[in-house]
Amino acid sequence: MVIVVRVFVAGGSGVLGQRLVPRLVAQGHQVTATTTNAAKLGLLQRLGAQGVVMDGLDAASVGEAVAAARPDTIVHQMTAISMAHAGKPDIKHPDRWFATTNRLRTDGTDHLLAAAEATGVSHVVAQGYASWNGIREGGWVKTEEDPLDLLEGTAAQGGMEAMRHVENVVLDAGGAVLRYGAFYGPGAIDDQVELVRKRQYPLVGRGTGYSSWVHLDDAASATVLAVEQKARGVFNIVDDEPAPASEWLPYLAECAGAKPPMRVPVWLARLLAGDQAVVMMTQGRGFSNAKAKRDLGWEPRHPSWRQGFKEELA
Ligand SMILES: NC(=O)c1ccc[n+]([C@@H]2O[C@H](COP(=O)([O-])OP(=O)(O)OC[C@H]3O[C@@H](n4cnc5c(N)ncnc54)[C@H](OP(=O)(O)O)[C@@H]3O)[C@@H](O)[C@H]2O)c1
Repeated sequence: MVIVVRVFVAGGSGVLGQRLVPRLVAQGHQVTATTTNAAKLGLLQRLGAQGVVMDGLDAASVGEAVAAARPDTIVHQMTAISMAHAGKPDIKHPDRWFATTNRLRTDGTDHLLAAAEATGVSHVVAQGYASWNGIREGGWVKTEEDPLDLLEGTAAQGGMEAMRHVENVVLDAGGAVLRYGAFYGPGAIDDQVELVRKRQYPLVGRGTGYSSWVHLDDAASATVLAVEQKARGVFNIVDDEPAPASEWLPYLAECAGAKPPMRVPVWLARLLAGDQAVVMMTQGRGFSNAKAKRDLGWEPRHPSWRQGFKEELA
């Protein structure tokens, strides 16, 4: 029997939040979900949540929202990656593109944890990332025991450090960090697919770098399990098939009805798209989901991006 939990989903209106909130509600949990935009309160209500406007970067706003909801568990899904929050994607300057997201991962996490303590919230689950960012040494597939890569000396370092901050403080607080793979599913990769269709998403070098993917609904189901089990520690929430860009990118193009991706040499990609894109496509390390399957009893409904891309882009 699942015990009913009062769950506070910070960032409940995002692409993942919108798949997560109805699942929590369907399990019988009482959900409060946040947005920065009062116009989305109706959406949150339709998903079955009590909607609340909250600015995750404002300690007072977070403190008030959490105190009013009096949750048992807080789930941190706040990012600011969309056009609405971050403007046009800028892969070459992730420090700019992710500036607000990085603050949501540092200050925003701290505000949520302070509010959790003040309100007596016993458990926190936060969003991490495990797609291509495993340490760039040894094998191509990493476990939770392996460090993440900090991309030292690149414009992505601040973002990697912000993610490390989430992990450090949430684990210290006895919570769980779910390192999701690259999302796909409703609304999650529309921008990337558009670039693929325009042949503006090339393979870099020989495309040897690995990535891990996860369908939004599988990310949501893992999150429900982490909430219900009051999970502690880090979990890779990725599908069963980490794969090199040379495999998934041409396949994504095929599923999207696009021509095969162009190929560009590393030097040119570095110039046009910067270090992060080059690392991801040539040296990225993917992730294993063995721990989440074993400890959370999680089973992805979309075990491979092969079937998932086809279904989503059909
Ligand atoms: N692992 C991954 O691959 C991964 C992870 C995250 C996102 N993404 C991608 O990033 C893109 C954008 O994601 P998204 O559509 O979910 O939108 P997003 O703009 O990143 O927003 C996510 C959530 O954070 C909230 N938020 C933003 N700024 C906030 C702030 N200052 N305080 C509190 N909450 C704040 C948003 O609320 P509002 O209602 O105010 O917008 C929303 O609920 C998508 O393509 C998605 O697939 C990928």
